[in-house]
Amino acid sequence: MSTRGTSARLASVAGWVAAAPGERVLEVGCGAGVLVTELAAAVGDGRVVAVDRSARMAAAATRRNRAAVDAGRVRVLAAPLLDADLGGERFDAVVAVDVRAFWTPPAPEWDVVAGVLAPGGRVVVGFSVMADGDAGRVTAEVARLAGERGLVVTATADVSTVPFPTAAVELRAPVRG
Ligand SMILES: C[S@@+](CC[C@H](N)C(=O)[O-])C[C@H]1O[C@@H](n2cnc3c(N)ncnc32)[C@H](O)[C@@H]1O
Repeated sequence: MSTRGTSARLASVAGWVAAAPGERVLEVGCGAGVLVTELAAAVGDGRVVAVDRSARMAAAATRRNRAAVDAGRVRVLAAPLLDADLGGERFDAVVAVDVRAFWTPPAPEWDVVAGVLAPGGRVVVGFSVMADGDAGRVTAEVARLAGERGLVVTATADVSTVPFPTAAVELRAPVRG
């Protein structure tokens, strides 16, 4: 896998999400929809819902994924996550990349994520490591804020990408016996 540029950053995250055929995936803060394209290819006849509070970004993501949108495999919502109508859907995976809301208190977005995660589902929060200490600080804050909503860190990952390293935290709801 190439380790240069935006696509390497998002390809790394796609690898960590490891979406499987048939899965339902939610991406929060999809930007121009580059990761949506990778997720849609991975889930096949599954579904991807992408949310971005910027109407301009949501329109770009829709354009980029036009065929999958028209086929009903991808839905793009132009709304902040807190206002997005997710239609009561549950997701096997939720992913957000470089969306500061997930490590900025009080982070009510975590309430939404915890509420839509299917049993056994996973959350991957990816971020660019722009300064020394960011990886530990962001990981700790994600763990704390998600932990307040009952999610626990199950893995961390990082890779050398350009211009900044890319890191991620994976979280799950503990299975209750
Ligand atoms: C830094 S960009 C990252 C875009 C893309 N994920 C990427 O990594 O290339 C953050 C994006 O998240 C969106 N965003 C930030 N907070 C959001 C929220 N609470 N709900 C939905 N979208 C949000 C912004 O509009 C922006 O498009």
